[in-house]
Amino acid sequence: MAAPETAPLDPMAPLVARVTRRHHDAPEVFTLELEPEDPGALAPFAPGQFNMLTVFGVGEVPISFSGDPVDQNRLVHTIRAVGPVSGALTELEPGAAVGLRGPFGVGWPMAEAEGKDVVVVAGGLGLAPLRPALYRLFAERERYGKIVLLYGTRSPDDILFRRELEAWRGRLDAEVEVTVDHAMAAWHGNVGVVTTLIPRCSFDPAQTVALVCGPEVMMRFAIAALMDAGVAADDIYLSMERNMKCAVGFCGHCQFGPVFVCRDGPVFPYARLRGLLALKEL
Ligand SMILES: Cc1cc2nc3c(=O)[nH]c(=O)nc-3n(C[C@H](O)[C@H](O)[C@H](O)COP(=O)(O)OP(=O)(O)OC[C@H]3O[C@@H](n4cnc5c(N)ncnc54)[C@H](O)[C@@H]3O)c2cc1C
Ligand code: FES
Repeated sequence: MAAPETAPLDPMAPLVARVTRRHHDAPEVFTLELEPEDPGALAPFAPGQFNMLTVFGVGEVPISFSGDPVDQNRLVHTIRAVGPVSGALTELEPGAAVGLRGPFGVGWPMAEAEGKDVVVVAGGLGLAPLRPALYRLFAERERYGKIVLLYGTRSPDDILFRRELEAWRGRLDAEVEVTVDHAMAAWHGNVGVVTTLIPRCSFDPAQTVALVCGPEVMMRFAIAALMDAGVAADDIYLSMERNMKCAVGFCGHCQFGPVFVCRDGPVFPYARLRGLLALKEL
């Protein structure tokens, strides 16, 4: 067999990227735009995949892509500061260097969803890994049936990506609902958890693919509501989070029962995880 013209990249060796823009989205949530020093060295990403981002001297964490897959040279990541590495990432200013490995993982089932209604259910920061899928759904609108986006956050201040939400909500060919757990007087929208919106939406459950991302408890309730509405377990896709080290299926840190979240996911059909999600200790 002839040798490949270019050697495959070492998935364990980070490339260097520079922060080109930093945007404050919500309390403790920032979006970074990164430009790799060698853009040709990166494979294209698909909606739902993630990169391993390194803050040199601090550590490395998995972070999903949150940008538009059409714009492959602009790597966009939306990060909540919850600990040392995510906190250090959100503090990086334009010009700062970041280590980057990826893209990794199995993303959202965009091809399987073609010709079907698509129900997207996002909780909190879960909208970030779903945003590339939403960009794709709206860019290729004619390929899909109904599009329903249901998004819930704790309070109006926590709403991410307002510009896109307003644009998508203004469309006549999609149903977009935003709800908050707790509202103040100035909020005139929905109040209550996002899963309560599911029975109020119109879609054909026999011809629907659902994409769900958010805290695990929210995903459990979303699955129950979608299945009550008649969506099959095979057609409900979740993005799972587990601690990661290698991101390529070597180290076992992300093991969840028989699957490795980094290599076999992070997006899985619920039918594949059903027994595992019932076991709280996993
Ligand atoms: C596939 C994948 C995609 C991810 N995408 C994103 C993303 O797009 N944006 C983003 O902000 N994060 C994302 N995460 C989560 C992110 O990787 C973690 O928040 C990060 O690893 C925390 O590392 P740390 O060193 O900052 O904090 P740690 O010291 O590891 O954690 C600090 C505290 O936060 C808690 N914690 C850790 N992870 C989470 C979490 N996910 N949610 C809530 N609490 C947590 C820990 O239990 C601990 O109490 C993703 C994770 C995975 C596996
Ligand atoms: S992070 Fe090493 S096997 Fe998944």
